[in-house]
Amino acid sequence: MVRTSELGKDKRLKVLRLDSNQAPDFAAAVRAGLSGTPKSIPSRFFYDDIGSDLFEQITELPEYYLTRSEQSIFEERADTIVGFAKKPISLVEFGSGSSKKTRLLIEAALRQQAALSYAAVDISEDYLESTARRLLKDYPALSVTAIASEYFDSLDIIPQANCPRLFLFLGSNIGNLEDDEAQRFLARIKSSMASEDRLLVGMDLEKDASIIEPAYDDLEGITARFDKNVLARANRELGANFDLDSFVHRARYSQVRSRVEVALISQREQDVSISELDLDFHLSLGEPIHTEISRKYGLEDVQRLARGAGLTLADRWFDSQNWFGLFMFKPDL
Ligand code: TRP
Repeated sequence: MVRTSELGKDKRLKVLRLDSNQAPDFAAAVRAGLSGTPKSIPSRFFYDDIGSDLFEQITELPEYYLTRSEQSIFEERADTIVGFAKKPISLVEFGSGSSKKTRLLIEAALRQQAALSYAAVDISEDYLESTARRLLKDYPALSVTAIASEYFDSLDIIPQANCPRLFLFLGSNIGNLEDDEAQRFLARIKSSMASEDRLLVGMDLEKDASIIEPAYDDLEGITARFDKNVLARANRELGANFDLDSFVHRARYSQVRSRVEVALISQREQDVSISELDLDFHLSLGEPIHTEISRKYGLEDVQRLARGAGLTLADRWFDSQNWFGLFMFKPDL
């Protein structure tokens, strides 16, 4: 169900909501993920208000190179990137978070055109709205459509535009999808693209495990808190009795699968109950609850994904260490 509000007096902000991060979805996902083995909880439920704040802290950690690498590409290339079509253009972003990197594109676009519309999709509703308000304050020529939704559902309600659109899927968020899901999502985006539109995807590249693993398991323990927040959220929202101290955050890079695999490992035999689900289950010593994957890409992987989705690679840019790539795709004709 879509709920719309044109908030307050601000004609430049429109908020749309799809209830894909709400209590019934969380309850159903937790029940499905914890009833059998192996156990898992889908990672989109990391991002309540507390989780979104913790993720913002992750992006500033010394170990978490991804955000800085991607930002450095935008700092050098923002003008080139928004130069893909005759102005004006508009922006559509999936998983916008704090929109910090997007600011560089917004500023580049506004140097070349008088006004800009930006549709931002994010699962975390309150976070999305406060980000949108800050953007509107900073950029008087901007208008924002804030869409609180998970990625797939949002595609049906993204506003049409009568100018070329740049779709953004940054931060290697694509890597949190299984390969087949990633391909299906890109194919869905492609099906809503006009021939002038472009899709810019930020993808973390394959590299040594000694660089990747600390990015997902920092010394300060912020990532561990972020990971465990999904259990804390189950305690808060579903009446679960997870003892957070009896789980350890684990992030391992699998060379074979080119991906980080994140899990919470039970440190003892234990029984957990979730009162609002009427669910009791057992965890053995060392048993994982899988929470996230983060795929790292080789250039062939990028090409394969594009081909499978009906997209052609039009351009690509890397940071000075070749750790992170921005890939610009156009729809096949
Ligand atoms: N999109 C981010 C990434 O894959 C998500 C992320 C960063 C994450 N750190 C994490 C997910 C730690 C789970 C645990 O890099």
